[in-house]
Amino acid sequence: MTPTTSSERGTWNSKIGFILAAAGSAVGLGNIWGFPTQVADNGGAAFILIYLLCCLIIGFPVMIAELAIGRRTQKNPVGALKALSKGNSFIPLIGYWGVICGVMILSFYVVISGWTLAYVFEELFYFFQFESAANYVGDLGNGLKNAVFTLFFMGLTILIVTGGVSKGIERATKLLMPVLIGILFILIFYIFTLDGAKEGLLMFFKPDFSTIDGNLLLSAMGQAFFSLSLGMGALITYGSYLNKKQNIVESAAYITIFDVGIAVVAGLLVIPAMFVAQAGGVQIFNPETGALFSSVTLVFDVLPEMFHNIGGFVGMLLGITFFILLGLAALTSSISLLEVPVAYVIDEHGVNRKKASWIVGGFVGIISVIVSFELSLIDYFVMIFNEIGLPLGGLAISVFLGYFWKSENALLELEQGNESIRDSGFYTLWVILIKYISPVLIGLVLLTTIWSFLT
Ligand code: PHE
Repeated sequence: MTPTTSSERGTWNSKIGFILAAAGSAVGLGNIWGFPTQVADNGGAAFILIYLLCCLIIGFPVMIAELAIGRRTQKNPVGALKALSKGNSFIPLIGYWGVICGVMILSFYVVISGWTLAYVFEELFYFFQFESAANYVGDLGNGLKNAVFTLFFMGLTILIVTGGVSKGIERATKLLMPVLIGILFILIFYIFTLDGAKEGLLMFFKPDFSTIDGNLLLSAMGQAFFSLSLGMGALITYGSYLNKKQNIVESAAYITIFDVGIAVVAGLLVIPAMFVAQAGGVQIFNPETGALFSSVTLVFDVLPEMFHNIGGFVGMLLGITFFILLGLAALTSSISLLEVPVAYVIDEHGVNRKKASWIVGGFVGIISVIVSFELSLIDYFVMIFNEIGLPLGGLAISVFLGYFWKSENALLELEQGNESIRDSGFYTLWVILIKYISPVLIGLVLLTTIWSFLT
């Protein structure tokens, strides 16, 4: 089989198209569901602070590294690292790890995405008083129903990816992202008018520093990697479709700001909404432990109950809109998760895009059906492939760039589209971050975690 040439691989059509596609990959369940519930769980603003630091001093530099590796080689993560490995057989393992993380993360990501879709129907059925139908689609433990919605969502993802880089991914995200932002703001304005919203805002902005410990650091770092789509080569892949005129550092800055901004804005929606629910008589804290309910309960029990309390047509509309928002955000991310293994199969095994998308998508679909029936797998997958896997990938990419490929070579790539970078202080800062700060910080957090497992 012959590897595909770069001319067949496709490229982004426009600068804004690429930025929106990458921001679409970044903005997802991680922002609208993961971030707010983690903030609420981990001491409010204290978590936000650590999270922002992780994004700025680890995430942003690693994103530049991934984009540079991708655009330099114009290949999927495995091909990219092979091309720069100078024959070293360990280096491509970083790419393989990325492909595996992509497949495994996608396999639970689509199950949760399927729930968001099911809840659009739940809100509808509830409004029309089809109570048993509402209960049926709203039952997260129903494996068969989960599998149906999951496969539907997977099918949508596959269809977009078969369309290719500019006609599929870029076109879809360019359409979906503005809709998503519009919906987000409309919902916030409405929630702010309700009782209890202020209390939520207070929790969001009031730090409780006593909650900072090793666990919180791992969660914040894992969340930063997950939310910015880093550590598994999604941005190596998206970077590989980038033309040489585009300024990588500037693009990475836009994507990071966009992603962090949407997470914070989503927090302004979800956390006040939880307290609105509480003001309406819904329990949001576990009466036995005093802790906040788990993220699944909050999003799929507490919020729907709040929409039902608001009631009537407005309640239904809000509910449907919220779950469509979650679903759209998830879709622009799931396509990037699928694109990584698909690009690998296209580039390295010479399979055409359509076939590659259906084969890889079908394979992920099978795993996701198993997850649909056995939800406890989600926790394990999150732990292994997200909380540990992505930072580990980020660590490997930093070390690879800093000590193997070397920053001077990366600089040659970064200079294309940004001629003045060589003499800017930013380049020196970036080298320090990627060579020393990021490996040491990621390494420390990972070691602490492994240590706490063992003891
Ligand atoms: N960033 C996405 C989110 O926040 C998830 C994701 C992770 C996508 C890794 C691609 C790669 O939901």
